[in-house]
Amino acid sequence: MSEWWKSAVIYQVYPRSFQDSNGDGIGDLKGIERRLDDLQALGIDAIWISPIFPSPMADFGYDVADYRDVDPRFGTLDDFDALLAAAHERGIRVLLDLVPNHSSSAHPWFEESRASRDNPKRDWYIWRDPGPGGAPPNNWISDFGGPAWEWDAATGQYYYHAFLKEQPDLNWRNPAVRAAMMDVLRFWFARGIDGFRIDVLWHMVKHADLPDNPVNAAWRPGEPDYTRVHQLHSADQPEVHDIAAEMRAIADEYGARVLIGEIYLPVPRLMGYYGTAERPGVHLPFNFQLIGAEWNARGLAAIIDAYEGALPAGGWPNWVLGNHDRPRIATRVGPAQARVAMMLLLTLRGTPTLYYGDEIGMEDVAIPPDLIRDPRELNDPGIGLGRDPVRTPMAWDDSPNAGFSAAAPWLPLHPDWRVRNVAAQRGDPASMWRLTRKLLALRHAHPALALGDYRPVEAKGDLLAWERRLGHDRLLVVLNLGDRPQGFAIPEWAEGFAVLAAARGGTDPALLSPNEGFVLG
Ligand code: GLC
Repeated sequence: MSEWWKSAVIYQVYPRSFQDSNGDGIGDLKGIERRLDDLQALGIDAIWISPIFPSPMADFGYDVADYRDVDPRFGTLDDFDALLAAAHERGIRVLLDLVPNHSSSAHPWFEESRASRDNPKRDWYIWRDPGPGGAPPNNWISDFGGPAWEWDAATGQYYYHAFLKEQPDLNWRNPAVRAAMMDVLRFWFARGIDGFRIDVLWHMVKHADLPDNPVNAAWRPGEPDYTRVHQLHSADQPEVHDIAAEMRAIADEYGARVLIGEIYLPVPRLMGYYGTAERPGVHLPFNFQLIGAEWNARGLAAIIDAYEGALPAGGWPNWVLGNHDRPRIATRVGPAQARVAMMLLLTLRGTPTLYYGDEIGMEDVAIPPDLIRDPRELNDPGIGLGRDPVRTPMAWDDSPNAGFSAAAPWLPLHPDWRVRNVAAQRGDPASMWRLTRKLLALRHAHPALALGDYRPVEAKGDLLAWERRLGHDRLLVVLNLGDRPQGFAIPEWAEGFAVLAAARGGTDPALLSPNEGFVLG
């Protein structure tokens, strides 16, 4: 089916932390291949693997030094081909992470670009003369803190970097850059991958004149440095949609591929990334609304309704609870509510993306100061921006290092890994892993869950309920978002429905225990 991604459940693999096969404490491609059976047993349909390309790892792979190869820490191109074939044999699709906004400063393109002002690749990046008194060309701030401009003494100009100085932004207004990156898409599509997650898609084009961003007068110490200004001119420019459309056209040439855009914008702006009927954009602009959401029925209902209501004609929804950049769901809402959240993610209308480890209820891991690795924390410290806590190794069993590696892992394991691991949870009918597998099986068995309509039923106090329907297939989802029991008046049409899944093993949907949720059908 060409639109397989509509009914699919995507699972994000952070490759450094999934499975190590060569005993260096860092996960790799052979490791992922070894775990495909576990993923198949869980019931996911596709994996998205965070960047695996050669990289100095200043930002753990989001600084790419070669877009057409595999970093030796992760393996080789042959290992990738083997992983892809093994995944496809099991009916699992594979998405890679495209990082087109910036390369590594170690990429040969940038090395040429910085070599001299008249190098043919000078204009592949964003170089500008200093402002008055040698100051940076404008007031833009890096998303990772500090000025977004780096001085290059050798050629007497600044270059722009929205992230680390080791991640110079490519100049997407230059047609040669565009052509080179489009060839990267072709390279991987021709190898057989099923799609891309596109890193920071909304950042790719900047205002042609690079004017100052408006200052955020409401900024207070303790807030991220980059929020000192509003990113009015440095991101989300109208021309970005032409680029998304070109990428989409390439994906469409290969058929049955999917493009997912990473975009942190308010819903009305986000919707623009679907494109239009004449000029389609990405298939799925990532919907991060649940990540920052206050966890209560009315708030969530408002988010769901606003998002559903804003979708353009033909736009297919998607939902995300967490990723490698944001606090884990079990930490945000607590372990008991995390089960309800999993039920929500896997029963809403739209493609869900699951973050590795959430299926065993992993929480953020406190990282001792001397083990901090994330440049974001090191650059803008002490205000909770660090991402190491959400990138800790997957726990597979209770053998040394949780079966993740024969060596000490690159980040510490969660403290309760001896009991919170996949093997233990597979054997425990009441576990989070078993609940996740049950919900995934329901999605596959019920077209209403995968593709059906969404209709709100109730959002009151701690109770949130909705209906999913496709033809004769009709289900009711009822969630208790609080830690007190709740009564629920089952609508007439659903009387007689059986409990298909319960977040906490309950049997009576008319009287929900604390943190209980039901799928009825
Ligand atoms: C995206 C990635 C993040 C990375 C940043 C810069 O937000 O998800 O991990 O640091 O882009 O590439």
